[in-house]
Amino acid sequence: MKKIVIEGGTPLRGEITVSGAKNAVLPLIASSLLADGVSRICEAPWLADVNTMCQVLEHLGIQVGFTQDSNCLEIDTSTLNGIEPPGELVRKMRASFLLMGPLLARYGAAKMSLPGGCAIGSRPIDLHLKGLEAMGAHFNIGHGYIDAQAQRLRGNRIYLDFPSVGATENLMMAATLAEGATIIENAAEEPEIVDLANFLSAMGAKIKGAGTKVIRIEGVNHLQPVTHVVIPDRIEAGSYMLAAAATGGEMLICNVIDEHLKSVTAKLQESGVEVIEGEEGILVRGPDAINPVNIKTLPYPGFPTDMQAQFMALLSVAKGSSIITETVFENRFMHVAQLSLMAGDIRIEGHSAVINGVSRLKGARVEATDLRAGAAMIIAGLMAEGRTEIENICHIERGYANICQKFEQVGAKIKIVDD
Ligand code: UD1
Repeated sequence: MKKIVIEGGTPLRGEITVSGAKNAVLPLIASSLLADGVSRICEAPWLADVNTMCQVLEHLGIQVGFTQDSNCLEIDTSTLNGIEPPGELVRKMRASFLLMGPLLARYGAAKMSLPGGCAIGSRPIDLHLKGLEAMGAHFNIGHGYIDAQAQRLRGNRIYLDFPSVGATENLMMAATLAEGATIIENAAEEPEIVDLANFLSAMGAKIKGAGTKVIRIEGVNHLQPVTHVVIPDRIEAGSYMLAAAATGGEMLICNVIDEHLKSVTAKLQESGVEVIEGEEGILVRGPDAINPVNIKTLPYPGFPTDMQAQFMALLSVAKGSSIITETVFENRFMHVAQLSLMAGDIRIEGHSAVINGVSRLKGARVEATDLRAGAAMIIAGLMAEGRTEIENICHIERGYANICQKFEQVGAKIKIVDD
């Protein structure tokens, strides 16, 4: 079993470059199924989740690989010969369910296992299914599998009870090849939705309003493959910003879109961290003392649930008490117990965590309980006194490309060891 070992207490200094966005690249990979031929996704990060998604595609007969300069992920769908992604892979990762929309739209059928992913809540798929049903799909659910059938999907008006990122993406992809217009109301507004819309539009889809609460898609008969550069990962960038702040360091984070990080920047500034947006990237300078702040996670453009754990690590050493309220997922406080092992003083009250700042965290043996909780443990380890060992790092590898190498470049004493 691999683990990450950190000797804490070194302020991080230097430059770090953010990779392409995991949460953008996964729906783009799924979208490539909507066209026949070779699509290229450039700046795609090589992550465990991307690898899993590529393996799923290979099981469907699709050829997937990186170009020679390893910059672009090439997906050749012309050899597709199946509509049943393998259950053991689908269960590894929730985003694999994004194949449902494209398979139904293009092939009129799909058989998929119920999806997996980080254990951060019940994470149902009812909104995906309700939307696809409104477009004429039929589902048979049994023994952990969903058997889906549709004649040509028909556009419809779909109101999402919650602006689910995945449901918005699945419905957008399905609607591109449907007959007539689909209007998604209360749609998710995340930057990854806009990136997907740009990808689909380049394929020939007719989409308006991506990035707002109402997305309108006029179905077309045919889409063609494309080459597209994926947006930078705002959560990876935010995690580095937090690490710079937490260690009292100074880091320039390159390959970022400032606009995507407004809520994180605002909360960092409120906590006393200097954040300067510039041409070359975002400069973050950690203060001597962190001010307590209150945070509520919300759909974009609100504060991202995917940054909640990392911010909690920072606030665990603030000069006073902070409250973080989680409104997106019901079970996303597993990192609280891990931070407590490092001498953090945090208690959970319903959907909130009350964080009483301590003067210093202490290194300990902890666990990455999910992807972002794993990033939080790295940040905690970087600022803690002494040695931290993080186990279960497979979660971290799902979403952060070369994280240890990147932190080493800015002076962190961090390494991956094989037990
Ligand atoms: C995506 C991101 C994940 C992020 C999350 C919220 C990807 C690959 N993952 O996940 O990193 O944490 O957005 O920003 O992009 N829900 C339902 N029914 C549904 C679908 C969702 O009740 O059919 C609920 C979920 O249980 C959750 C909330 O809606 O409480 C948000 O989920 P959703 O936006 O769908 O997240 P994902 O797309 O799974």
